Amino acid sequence: MPGRLVFRLLLFSVLASVPIGLAAQEGGGSALGVTVGKLETDEQKRGDAVFHKNCHLCHISTAQKRELKINADELVGLFKRPNTSERAVRELIQEGIPKRMPSFRYNFTAAELDDLIAYLKIR
Ligand code: HEC
Repeated sequence: MPGRLVFRLLLFSVLASVPIGLAAQEGGGSALGVTVGKLETDEQKRGDAVFHKNCHLCHISTAQKRELKINADELVGLFKRPNTSERAVRELIQEGIPKRMPSFRYNFTAAELDDLIAYLKIR
């Protein structure tokens, strides 16, 4: 029954988000095996909240998403990769990726985007 499957997926996503929310409040640490750098500045803490509100849905992996092959990159260590440029990441967030990732051009203030970038740098 497709209705039941949808219900189960919804239930799963609600349950799955609880421990991540708790881990985020503790200031980084480990959620589902992902180690994120320590949140030190206010900018990083606000960026963490922006990330978990807007990006989490796709960029946090779960066993179920892996099984369904719908998980996007977790963006851990993004800025440690040699070919990552801040400008390109800002542009990508603003533009999105056609049919894959939404554009966030109208979602964030300039300060929120700065916070998000500060967070991504330690993620
Ligand atoms: C609806 C799903 C979705 C949401 C929401 C989403 N993304 Fe994405 N994102 C994707 C997909 C799909 C890709 C391309 C595949 C991949 O890199 O795994 C991608 C790629 C990226 C990349 C490039 C990754 C790389 O390895 O070069 C960055 C950076 C990124 N997203 C940042 C963000 C940020 C920051 C947010 C929140 C503001 C966000 N995304 C929200 C789906 C999403």
